[in-house]
Amino acid sequence: MSCFSCFGPRRRKTKTDSRIDDSTDARSNACVSVDSTESGQKASQSSARSFAFRDLAMASQNFKVANLIGEGGFGRVFKGRLDSGEAIAIQQLNHYGLQGSKEFLVEVLMLIMLRHENLVSLIGYCAEGDERLLVYEYMPLGSLEKQLFDLSPGKQPLDWNARIKIAVGAAKGLTYLHDVANPPVIYRDLKAANVLFDNDFTPKLSDFGLAKLGPVGDNTHVSTRVMGTYGYCDPEYANSGKLTIKSDVYSFGMLLLELITGRRAFDSTKTGGDKNLMTWSRPFLNDRRRFTQLADPLLQGCYPKRAFKHLVVVASMCLQDHARVRPIMGDVVFALNHLASQPYIPEHDSKIMNSPPPPSPSLEAALTCSRGRNLVRRPSNFQAGV
Ligand SMILES: Nc1ncnc2c1ncn2[C@@H]1O[C@H](COP(=O)(O)OP(=O)(O)OP(=O)(O)O)[C@@H](O)[C@H]1O
Ligand SMILES: [Mg+2]
Repeated sequence: MSCFSCFGPRRRKTKTDSRIDDSTDARSNACVSVDSTESGQKASQSSARSFAFRDLAMASQNFKVANLIGEGGFGRVFKGRLDSGEAIAIQQLNHYGLQGSKEFLVEVLMLIMLRHENLVSLIGYCAEGDERLLVYEYMPLGSLEKQLFDLSPGKQPLDWNARIKIAVGAAKGLTYLHDVANPPVIYRDLKAANVLFDNDFTPKLSDFGLAKLGPVGDNTHVSTRVMGTYGYCDPEYANSGKLTIKSDVYSFGMLLLELITGRRAFDSTKTGGDKNLMTWSRPFLNDRRRFTQLADPLLQGCYPKRAFKHLVVVASMCLQDHARVRPIMGDVVFALNHLASQPYIPEHDSKIMNSPPPPSPSLEAALTCSRGRNLVRRPSNFQAGV
């Protein structure tokens, strides 16, 4: 899946069309800090190694095609192995001048400071001559895009419990960026292709070239040229250029909708209204009695019916047109943890369906009352945008 500037042609492979909008980004992004005790990470982890180009060429067997994992807008990604035996992913950035250097700097600085179990760790970097490379921990199970939409033949589709685990992990990664990083970091590139998996399907957010520092002081937003990915882009941000952490919340809602439906946020192979997941989903999202029609057929009906409906409600809240009525990610984590505490157990679900509702508060009540604040509005008149 590709990124774009909402107001221009696709960026990145050309010199004129880049994801990063203004020339101060890299410098302004340099001053992010995190409280390592709050993030639960060791301060000593906040470092990245500087590699010689030769080391990375050796690690990837001279960037052998057989080691090529894939190619994104920034460049190619190779699997490699360090002398220590550690597997790594090496992203070799395209040689296209200033914009590339700026994105490189943004990503290195961001990732040196930001460490969390739901963010891909930066192991190091190489800046030698024209070469710019980033070295990440290797994520053996690939991306959510692959696991959800491009599953290899014979592989089991993600079941309900795995989908909830992925949603919780991605939400925690975003919460760390929004609530722990100081000033907050707006990720701006949440999409299935950027959620990668380690061996036990722990999801990690990758690709910080688009990330931007959030507003500080009395400012409510940062103004920026609109960048993002088709289908995931917050309509309010797309219309105004005013970026807030709620733009990430919208993209997260879209990711939830993809997990629910098994459909891509934007699918150019489809026709008409089916291309855009929001357009396709709207009639179902607006009618609670039709929520289950959103379910991915690959789930084969194997999901807890109540939790499913609650997940649709959470997605709807995140996808509201107006940024200010979307929940904050900390509350989304709270709600998703509630759903994760009720895993799908086939016989169990049918018993629940035949028994009266449990006395615990509903998810919406939990969301509304979480942390003693009234943080979200019910999406009864929910009308999401494109
Ligand atoms: N740390 C990693 N471990 C394993 N695979 C990775 C890692 N980082 C990236 N990849 C894979 O490398 C490929 C290219 O990733 P990249 O982030 O450059 O592009 P993308 O996210 O697919 O697209 P875009 O450029 O639009 O963001 C993808 O298949 C991705 O899953
Ligand atoms: Mg990516």
